[in-house]
Amino acid sequence: SVVGVPMPHESAALHVTGTALYTDDLIHRTKDVLHAYPVQATKAHGRITALRTEPALAVPGVVRVLTVADVPGVNDAGMKHDEPLFPSEVMFYGHAVAWVLAETLEAARIGAAAVEVELDELPSVITLREAIAADSFHGARPEMLTGDVEAGFADSAHVFTGEFQFSDQEHFYLETHAALALVDEAEQVFVQSSTQHPSETQEIVAHVLGLHSHEVTVQCLRMGGGFGGKEMQPHGFAAVAALGAKLTGRPVRLRLNRTQDLTMSGKRHGFNATWKIGFDAEGRIQALDATLTADGGWSLDLSEPVVARALCHIDNTYWIPHARVAGRIARTNKASNTAFRGFGGPQGMLVIEDIMGRCAPLLGLDPTELRERNFYRQGQSTPYGQPVTQPERISAIWEQVKDNGGIADRRREIAAFNSAHQHTKRGLAITGVKFGISFNLTAFNQGGALVLIYKDGSVLINHGGTEMGQGLHTKMLQVAATTLGIPLHKVRLAPTRTDKVPNTSATAASAGADLNGAAVKNACHQLRERLLQVAATQLGSHASDVRIVEGVARTLGSDKELAWDDLVRTAYFQRVQLSAAGFYRTEGLHWDAKVFRGSPFKYFAIGAAAAEVEVDGFTGAYRIRRVDIVHDVGDSLSPMIDIGQVEGGFVQGAGWLTLEDLRWDTGDGPHRGRLLTQAASTYKLPSFSEMPAEFNVTLLENATEEGAVYGSKAVGEPPLMLAFSVREALRQAAAAFGPSGVSVELASPATPEAVYWAIQAARQGG
Ligand code: MTE
Ligand code: HPA
Repeated sequence: SVVGVPMPHESAALHVTGTALYTDDLIHRTKDVLHAYPVQATKAHGRITALRTEPALAVPGVVRVLTVADVPGVNDAGMKHDEPLFPSEVMFYGHAVAWVLAETLEAARIGAAAVEVELDELPSVITLREAIAADSFHGARPEMLTGDVEAGFADSAHVFTGEFQFSDQEHFYLETHAALALVDEAEQVFVQSSTQHPSETQEIVAHVLGLHSHEVTVQCLRMGGGFGGKEMQPHGFAAVAALGAKLTGRPVRLRLNRTQDLTMSGKRHGFNATWKIGFDAEGRIQALDATLTADGGWSLDLSEPVVARALCHIDNTYWIPHARVAGRIARTNKASNTAFRGFGGPQGMLVIEDIMGRCAPLLGLDPTELRERNFYRQGQSTPYGQPVTQPERISAIWEQVKDNGGIADRRREIAAFNSAHQHTKRGLAITGVKFGISFNLTAFNQGGALVLIYKDGSVLINHGGTEMGQGLHTKMLQVAATTLGIPLHKVRLAPTRTDKVPNTSATAASAGADLNGAAVKNACHQLRERLLQVAATQLGSHASDVRIVEGVARTLGSDKELAWDDLVRTAYFQRVQLSAAGFYRTEGLHWDAKVFRGSPFKYFAIGAAAAEVEVDGFTGAYRIRRVDIVHDVGDSLSPMIDIGQVEGGFVQGAGWLTLEDLRWDTGDGPHRGRLLTQAASTYKLPSFSEMPAEFNVTLLENATEEGAVYGSKAVGEPPLMLAFSVREALRQAAAAFGPSGVSVELASPATPEAVYWAIQAARQGG
């Protein structure tokens, strides 16, 4: 069986040799391509009073300027119908109001600069605080209720309140948004798109062009990273390219440059949280009352499900008997914030982890101790009513992290180091993760596949998931080869296309391998059953006695064999169908969004991390000395891939929490609302120099997840939240500069500057 065998990413060799093809690489293989370039507004908010395109048309090479007048169908790029593709009102600084098509990118750029846009400027809301003050909200306002919150506070020995505002995060995938559209001889629209959700891209392209879905095909070869940023936002770009192709009859290529991508696409939602928490005398949480406000940006996009997931994760690994948590979405004049690895989960969990880190000293408890006392136990349910199965895994993983990390000894070393060093302090923290796997919206929990066996014995698989570097395709190859009983080299994977598998869900919510893996397995299972019948006749036995292993069919009690290729050829001549559509839907889920209750998740992914940092008291600069992680992926489908996901997720989380700092012009000057961090030069991403000096990742053993594909659990998002350990370790280190027992408030991101101010506050006693 190749499932569970460590192997490199199926495209690893192509990635490292620069030969893997991404959407925009296809322009070199396409003739007569036109280039699209946006006309971006330079105000945060205003009604468009004039849009003059003639000056652009006078630029040599410019072929056409796309405006609202060109849209044959619906002028909307979103699933919520609040995102006009060509706006009449500019909603954020950088908003594209028209698109120029030209023979060269340079001509398109000059053309775009020549388009004249006049605006009636309107007041703008840029920051979350401004939005809250102005009562600027949109979309649903869910409320999660459990128990009796007032009684919970009445029973609490300690009650604390606080406010916490934390930052957004840029996806910074290496490949920016890209689409290449063409119209074929049958007037069919074909769009190559860097999209995590080809079916939805297809749907939007169709409705913008006034077509049916069967007239539009979307293909995604692979993405150079998506991270949620390509779950909903590629649609409009694909629609612009498709519209251009339809109108000009020529292929149209649209690829954002980095600054365009940064200024036009949405980010992880920054949040504001106000909270009140009650603990009993032993430090056990009694009650929580919190309001989470997400910065939604100008349109709804995925903000509603993001906020729902934030609410569903504010408990993290802790039982909260009485809770009232409200969620709301601020409407601001910024690009529309969207899915980002964790999808509100990290934001919800950050709130409770911040509370734990701040309150532990106030309760006179070590933060590790406080966390342990609050872990879920058998029989307890989440605040939205889902029983927490496997609560013992939380403490088992926690203890394993302590062992692996030699935590007890290192705590002593750190204490000794800290008393010996006045200007440098170390801190160590352990934090856990419990992340619900499945889309909250039950309907999205389905997957499809199409598996073809050709006469020569080679196998081609199609499935509904997209590859963004996470290794989904590698896992799908392993699942297919294992289910069919053939060597991996017999199986090839075709690019994701909407004309192979219809109505697919986004490759998101970490559910790609669960949903598509089960669908691939289902299709391969059907084919195997048919082939076993054929083999049984050939081998003179019963199908139930035949096994196909490594490409050879054998039967019990006989040494007759039938090679896979011969078996397939025989089946063909017997007119046995050699293709199968596979399908899977996750059973047992229910979710009532109105009352905010149910069991929306198939299971929880669990993990824990211990991080040690060293902080310089003069500057707040720090480094991560060591990280130990134990993470639960069930029985790993592909251990090397999963370890890579854990490492990558952790580092991305650490970037969000400690380095990455999006800044906008929030003043009242002419560029109010402009993103100031428009390039890698001003937006600091984690790089080699920020990696933990020692980084140990262990996958939990003997962790079979019953009812999931080959016993595996999803891995894509949960490890990001293991990075809370870094933030809490920084808090510990900052506290070490102050009197013992000081409670430290730490800004997020905890940049060196923020850590410096936390140290200053700690020195002054908090
Ligand atoms: N890993 C890489 N290398 N690149 C990515 O864009 N996206 C993450 C995660 N890991 C991502 C990644 C996100 S946001 C999700 S939801 C999952 O992969 C999606 O893939 P899966 O469902 O197949 O795990
Ligand atoms: N992550 C988690 N949950 C989700 C997502 C996602 O990307 N999309 C919709 N629900």
